[in-house]
Amino acid sequence: MALTTSSLGNVEMETVWQVASPEPGEVGDTVVVEIDGKPVETRRGTRIAAVLLAQGATAFRHSPVSGKPRSAFCMMGVCFECLVEIDGCPNRQACLEYAEDSMQIRRQLCLPGGSYEA
Ligand code: FES
Repeated sequence: MALTTSSLGNVEMETVWQVASPEPGEVGDTVVVEIDGKPVETRRGTRIAAVLLAQGATAFRHSPVSGKPRSAFCMMGVCFECLVEIDGCPNRQACLEYAEDSMQIRRQLCLPGGSYEA
């Protein structure tokens, strides 16, 4: 299915949902994603937050203000505590993104002052 755009050039959200979402009950094949540079096998269509939690990640990001660790809380796109970088794009909600093969996921573990904690 091709993406369609509105007259303002924005991708229609309903179309994005149809392209990105596996069918309900669909079991995806095995894919390999990379989390902070480490390859991880998972099933296509698994939410990225679930992949991170299954790998034992206790922090998805650090608060840029306090430096305190944050992790998925609501798992439904409301709290924005699960932000990660996906394929070079920062601040993506891990609980709303589906695993695809070769996806590059990086936790946003930047501490105030700019240092990075892996
Ligand atoms: S866990 Fe709350 S927005 Fe992702």
